Amino acid sequence: MKRAFVVGYPISHSRSPLIHGFWLKELGIQGSYERIAVEPVAFETFATTLADQGFAGGNVTVPHKEAAFRLASVDDPVARDLEAVNTLWLEAGVLKGMNTDVAGFLANLDQEAPGWSDSLGRVVVLGAGGASRAILYGLIQRGVGEILLINRTLERAEALARHFGSKVKALPWDQAEVALEGADLLVNTTSLGMKGQQPLDLDLSRLPKSALVTDIVYVPLETPLLAAARQLGLARVDGLGMLLHQAVPGFERWFGARPEVTPQLRALVLADIEAKG
Ligand code: ATR
Repeated sequence: MKRAFVVGYPISHSRSPLIHGFWLKELGIQGSYERIAVEPVAFETFATTLADQGFAGGNVTVPHKEAAFRLASVDDPVARDLEAVNTLWLEAGVLKGMNTDVAGFLANLDQEAPGWSDSLGRVVVLGAGGASRAILYGLIQRGVGEILLINRTLERAEALARHFGSKVKALPWDQAEVALEGADLLVNTTSLGMKGQQPLDLDLSRLPKSALVTDIVYVPLETPLLAAARQLGLARVDGLGMLLHQAVPGFERWFGARPEVTPQLRALVLADIEAKG
């Protein structure tokens, strides 16, 4: 029986066991996927003894993604650019790492809004943390024209703009509404709108009618930002699909079969969100 895990600190809220458990059952694979809380001080020992613990690999979440990058052998260009690993596996006894956040973000939009990146001019991205960095990478990979990157702490946006080059322009938060003019896509990567956080309160009226709005927050599924977009009749993609799609490559590595993101899986995770928040 193959065993995989998600490791973080804290980890109790992770929905990854639900996702991988669904796929194991659906595909009839003898395997397990468990939640493991590991404090930062103990992460190196945990990650470097996977074989002894009987694991094929697993997912890594906050606050261990950077440590996982340092400890693993990384061929994946995405993980190398982000300097963060969210998926570990053993290959001929060697600890390997990759980052599936970019693929998850792109696959969600590809599935829910086909053609979204066919002629991508201006994109407005809110937030300049780790999630934003992954999304900027994905947008540039898809040939975006320009990215207006808006963050409460301007210096963090400026640092990302320096990292990614001239396509990314850093702007302060008070420029957010003006920046929406002429944008094809608006992405929220901040934690605003998440259950227990302040809502993301933005007047979207300057967005073109053809614009797409997406949020990486998925609890609640319809964030205040997505509700505002709905009221204006704008196209929307919620953040749940990113969570589901980023899980696919890891499952394939550990268990040897490529799973699919289906309406049944979405419904299962959605029911859990509705039950527990
Ligand atoms: P992640 O790795 O999920 O991106 P992070 O690195 O902690 O997490 O980044 C969180 C993002 O949400 C940041 O852009 C943060 O803005 P700052 O860089 O100014 O901290 C943003 N954010 C969190 N709370 C916010 C708030 N109340 N108002 C505006 N932005 C907020």
